[in-house]
Parts: sequence; C-alpha cells; structure tokens
Amino acid sequence: MDMDIRFDCMGVDWQLVSDTLKRIGISYHKPGVQRKAFENSYAVVFVYRGGGPSGQMIGFGRAISDGAYQAAIYDVAVIPEYQRQGIGTEIVKQILARLPSCNVILYEAPGKEGFYGTLGLRKMKTAMALFRKAEIMQEKGFTD
Ligand SMILES: CC(C)(COP(=O)(O)OP(=O)(O)OC[C@H]1O[C@@H](n2cnc3c(N)ncnc32)[C@H](O)[C@@H]1OP(=O)(O)O)[C@@H](O)C(=O)NCCC(=O)NCCS
Repeated sequence: MDMDIRFDCMGVDWQLVSDTLKRIGISYHKPGVQRKAFENSYAVVFVYRGGGPSGQMIGFGRAISDGAYQAAIYDVAVIPEYQRQGIGTEIVKQILARLPSCNVILYEAPGKEGFYGTLGLRKMKTAMALFRKAEIMQEKGFTD
C-alpha cells in the first residue's frame, strides 16, 4: 500500500478525526476541540493512503510531552478497514521516535489490551487519574 506519514496538522480534516474516534469507540470531541488537542501536542502522526491532497486519512495518534523526560500518548486510531496491517504499530513507533529521552504512559480501552504490549509497554501498578467525567469512566471500566 502506498502510505504517506505526516508529522504536522496541515490540512487535517478535524471532522474526520472526530468521526473516526467515535466510529472505533474511543472518546471523541467536536472538530474544533480535536484540532486544539492535536495542535497543542508535542508529537502528531497522521497516516494517509496515497500522497498529496487526495490522500485518504486512515490512522493517527499523538503525544503530549515536556520534551525532556515525560510524555503521554493519546488518540491512537486506525480506521477499521485498515486495522491489523501494522499501521497502528507504525504510528506508535513514529511517536516514540520523537520522544527518545522520555518515559511514556498511556491507558488502553478496557477489554482491548494487547496492542501496546506488543510494543514493549508494561502495565502500571500505581496509576491514578482525575477524570472530569469520573462516573462515566468508572462505568466504562477505566477506574475502580
Ligand atoms: C488498536 C489499534 C490502534 C491497533 O492498530 P492496528 O493497525 O490494527 O494494529 P497492528 O496491525 O499494528 O497490530 C499489531 C499487533 O497488535 C495486536 N493487536 C492489534 N489490535 C489489537 C486488539 N484490538 N486487541 C488485541 N491485540 C491487538 C496484535 O498482536 C497485532 O498483531 P497481529 O495483527 O499480527 O496479531 C487499532 O486497531 C484501533 O484503532 N482500534 C480501535 C480502537 C481500539 O481498539 N483501541 C485499543 C487501544 S485504546
């Protein structure tokens, strides 16, 4: 497959980012909010099928970071038709390559653990979170 990997937010269809996150069942926001999150991130990766302006966006991911020693990965997604072809792995590898000196944390969706283990990440035993929608996150199985 002719794949084009981009590392900036130029020309991104934010409605499509929002729709994709919704479609694959992870939390999503309005296009303007998605844009703010990605534009304020330390590293972004967008994968397109085909190059140029006519390329189709098929996956993406991002990391926030201090650029020194701590980082967190969010919103890694591959559209269903292109899953299990190594694209998610490539997205995470490209993000990690941009965070060479950093510890990296993230959280997976309950019941979907497995993908990040293959990338060398290990389960944390002392993670704590302050979720703004605490009850929903508890219902979904993210917290005790
Ligand atoms: C999770 C996701 C980003 C992975 O992207 P991908 O391109 O499909 O992943 P890859 O093809 O690089 O998979 C690499 C390996 O990770 C593991 N893996 C991938 N998806 C998995 C899943 N849903 N469950 C368990 N293991 C998985 C497999 O071992 C896979 O290797 P294999 O296909 O040879 O068995 C993508 O499937 C996705 O967007 N899923 C929807 C959202 C989701 O499930 N998120 C979970 C993380 S929060």
